[in-house]
Amino acid sequence: MPINYDDSGQGQPIIFLHGFPFNRSMWRDQVEFLAPRGYRCIAPDLVGLGEAHDKLQFVTNAQGQTEVCATTMADMARDIAQLMDDLQIERAVVCGLSMGCYVALEFIHLFPGRVDALVLAGGRAEGPDKAEKQSREQQAKKVIEKGFAPSVENIIQSLMAPRTLAEHPDVVARVRQMVAATDPRGAAAAQRGMAVRRDYSQDLPSIEVPALIIAGRDDGVRKPIDAETLHRGIKNSRLETIADAGHLMNMERPEAFNRAAVDFLEELSH
Ligand code: MLT
Repeated sequence: MPINYDDSGQGQPIIFLHGFPFNRSMWRDQVEFLAPRGYRCIAPDLVGLGEAHDKLQFVTNAQGQTEVCATTMADMARDIAQLMDDLQIERAVVCGLSMGCYVALEFIHLFPGRVDALVLAGGRAEGPDKAEKQSREQQAKKVIEKGFAPSVENIIQSLMAPRTLAEHPDVVARVRQMVAATDPRGAAAAQRGMAVRRDYSQDLPSIEVPALIIAGRDDGVRKPIDAETLHRGIKNSRLETIADAGHLMNMERPEAFNRAAVDFLEELSH
């Protein structure tokens, strides 16, 4: 098997694609909720993140230093197709959060016949501008040099809603632990991959499958227009906004997220 993954339940397959700088454990509440309800929940670690370190690639730069190469969204999408092949799954619902949405949009572009439906949480379609590319390269270098210790508290503050920070220390602790466990080389590779991602806006009109777009009302890293653009661009889509949820909406408000997801999934089967 090319990557590490969890595989629970039987029925309609759902592939869960995690955000950055996280790992497959961020989907725990969704897997525990959906697996007993007739869904086969498959949550992989994307390359370089979680336990999936072995596929990173390196080059020697002009100064003779070893540099980690970008893991592109297409690399990650191809790994998912390979995992589905290995598991003999032809089609699945693909559910991504944030970076996982970039991978989901790349996946449906590369393998349109393998997607039953999309769930896109905390996502956006637009590609990176020059400033974003520069910022990602700076962050890649910084994480290689210093790890996540200097930035973890800022990451936590920016990714979760005020209510989560005040009332859910358990969720905050899980997020802190995921960030601390992330391999800086894998994080740098993913940053470099996100810096060269395509602009998915022009793909949206050709997406034919049903899509659920989920936004966190208190998301500090996505703007409402990001979810609205996905919703307007994908013809057969619906938009749900979760109150008191930030960027990590599935962990912060799992009941609301799971309710939105299961309502959507049940409609698909009717
Ligand atoms: C994520 O949560 O995956 C990141 O915010 C994605 C990004 O940096 O665009």
